[in-house]
Amino acid sequence: MNTTSTANNNSDILSIIILAAGKGTRMKSAKPKVLQTLAHKPLLAHVLDTCGQLNADKTIVVYGFGGEQVQSAMNDYALTWVEQTEQLGTGHAVKVTLEELPQNGKSLILYGDVPLVSEHTLKRLQDNNTQGMSMLTLTVDNPFGLGRIKRDAEGKITAIVEQKDASEAEQKICEINSGIYCVDNALLHKYLPKLSNDNAQQEYYLTDIVKMAVADGINIIAIEPTFNFEIDGVNDRIQLAQLERTYQSHQVSQLQQQGVQFADPNRVDIRGTLQAGQDVFIDVNVVFEGDCVLGDNVYIEAGCVIKNSQIGNACYLKPYCVLDQATVGAGVDIGPFAHLRPQTVLADNSKIGNFVETKKSTIGKGSKVNHLSYIGDAVVGEGVNIGAGTITCNYDGVNKSQTIIDDNAFIGSNSSLVAPVRIGKTATVGAGSVITKDVSDDTLAVARGKQVQKEGWQRPSKSK
Ligand code: UD1
Ligand code: CA
Repeated sequence: MNTTSTANNNSDILSIIILAAGKGTRMKSAKPKVLQTLAHKPLLAHVLDTCGQLNADKTIVVYGFGGEQVQSAMNDYALTWVEQTEQLGTGHAVKVTLEELPQNGKSLILYGDVPLVSEHTLKRLQDNNTQGMSMLTLTVDNPFGLGRIKRDAEGKITAIVEQKDASEAEQKICEINSGIYCVDNALLHKYLPKLSNDNAQQEYYLTDIVKMAVADGINIIAIEPTFNFEIDGVNDRIQLAQLERTYQSHQVSQLQQQGVQFADPNRVDIRGTLQAGQDVFIDVNVVFEGDCVLGDNVYIEAGCVIKNSQIGNACYLKPYCVLDQATVGAGVDIGPFAHLRPQTVLADNSKIGNFVETKKSTIGKGSKVNHLSYIGDAVVGEGVNIGAGTITCNYDGVNKSQTIIDDNAFIGSNSSLVAPVRIGKTATVGAGSVITKDVSDDTLAVARGKQVQKEGWQRPSKSK
């Protein structure tokens, strides 16, 4: 985020004011409301990430309840924090920022609990502030509880009236105030000190600046958000869950438009970003977290959880695989029930079968780890076959050590490879071996107890 004034001239200076002082009593939580998560990300972080795309000169967050928690959670952002010790209303909340607010330029006024407003809508809102003030409004079926937009005979905005102050006639107005505005800083400096709390709620209403602007002859332009949900606020866990669903289905429909097939658009979650190629199929109950990338023709069966991973073209994930920070080449088969842990790299056409765990390991082209293995801190070459139940013993209780398995090696089932150790090219390890020393190229290593045979041996019988 830009914290310094760059090429902007005075009138282009953009400030952002985010109101986040509310406690969110209805959440019934020890956490401040703006730290509640939508798609695994705090509500406020959604707003801040969007703000990050707007090239603002200053972003001011008005905090109150749980300020320290909010500040430490948002440590990665360059922000100006202003405390509002008492929540005396939205107008008061903006007023407390005036000391920090530049005299020039414009401000976007946003809310920490209205997480999904988009960069595109906010840019349009800025562009529509040609005379001092623009705002986002929407005509809805049920306006109850929200501020209503009053217009004159010519359709010009004259005022905003809150639900509790509205006459019966005003209550019938269906155009509502989103609470999101773009206002010239000069007007905020002029109007906010004049607000009064002479209204039904005895609050300093930010909405009262509309009347003041109209009295100054300013034509306030209202636009609608690109998507209705962009202005939805979150007050309780029911609204939070509803907005989560709305957000998920919005993301899914965008991916559908790009050629992704979902078995059921209602049974997938994208908690981060997902880029996908064409003809990708995603079965039910798949969860994506962080930043994930899928190539073309990737097929993902039910119940997979994929986090911060890249998956190449034509990979096939069988049910219930868990991938975390994995990089997967093209044509790789994985699962069912495989666990790819951080820094797993699978080359093209390799295969990871059921109940296999990998960590910080590279598996070369066409190599197979088909059943019941743990491969950690390993570099596996091309064309290697790792038999069922093979374990790389990478940890001696203190240190982690590496296992190297060269091209075309064959590891017999149920072998333990005690690292640090190297298995040479085209070497073979006999089943059940405990390999503690390097195996040379083209060599067979067998390291296990010899079979003992006792003919006619009697099993013990129960003593009386
Ligand atoms: C406000 C608008 C209303 C609009 C509605 C949209 C006013 C007077 N009314 O109503 O026209 O339709 O939003 O949701 O502005 N906040 C503070 N400090 C305060 C008061 C509020 O930081 O002293 C924050 C809250 O945390 C919240 C936001 O401002 O994020 C809105 O406050 P809220 O009380 O929900 O406003 P409403 O009365 O619903
Ligand atoms: Ca509200």
